[in-house]
Amino acid sequence: MSAVAALKGYLSRRFDEELRFIRVRQESPNVGAILPSGNVMARKMASVVDPSSGLPVLEIGPGTGVMTRAILERGIPPERLFLIELSTTFACRLRVDFPGVNVIQGDAFELSRTLGEYSGITFDCVISGLPLLSFPVEKRIALIEGLLDRLPPGRPVVQFSYQPFSPVPPGGGDYKVEVFRYVLRNIPPAKTWLYRRPWQVAKAAALAAAAAA
Ligand SMILES: C[S@@+](CC[C@H](N)C(=O)[O-])C[C@H]1O[C@@H](n2cnc3c(N)ncnc32)[C@H](O)[C@@H]1O
Repeated sequence: MSAVAALKGYLSRRFDEELRFIRVRQESPNVGAILPSGNVMARKMASVVDPSSGLPVLEIGPGTGVMTRAILERGIPPERLFLIELSTTFACRLRVDFPGVNVIQGDAFELSRTLGEYSGITFDCVISGLPLLSFPVEKRIALIEGLLDRLPPGRPVVQFSYQPFSPVPPGGGDYKVEVFRYVLRNIPPAKTWLYRRPWQVAKAAALAAAAAA
């Protein structure tokens, strides 16, 4: 084999995930980013997962699965992880790369319909890689509300963005917006956000205390 062919082979193996991402991006306007997220950002996003909760985790917009891998590395068994991915190309490959993980091909904005028989599940948290800014603000707010309705009191939806502002505006609904982490070691650098209903924690504690009295 020539040195050029060997180098080509090495590069396509080394950058396989990036190349697959770019290929789907060329076909689909819904991908958003120029490259898959880096491992540093994926691990930061996955750090919100609480494996001890025993609850399943929902990831939306997994793409090539960089965050999926980080979530599994937190100790979540594959059967407790649910992915919603719009692209059929990504969804098919995710099924191959992550056996046992529940891959649902569909639109995360049509949450109840897309989750189908799993619509009533309570998840521990949601990891979102959706390109939210490509969608109308009302849809973003409705999505966050629908996701938070499926989490225990106070648990978060985590989302990244390349802009300095939250892709879901504060004050738009029943949720609080917090900056989670700045991630400079990513192309491009990103900011991550938490959406939660922290006031539900006190409410749930008061209800439990009243029930016990
Ligand atoms: C910015 S990429 C992020 C991919 C991956 N999470 C990462 O960080 O590398 C956005 C992903 O969201 C998916 N996506 C876009 N719109 C979607 C929708 N309405 N429902 C589900 N997935 C969607 C795209 O196909 C793509 O995989």
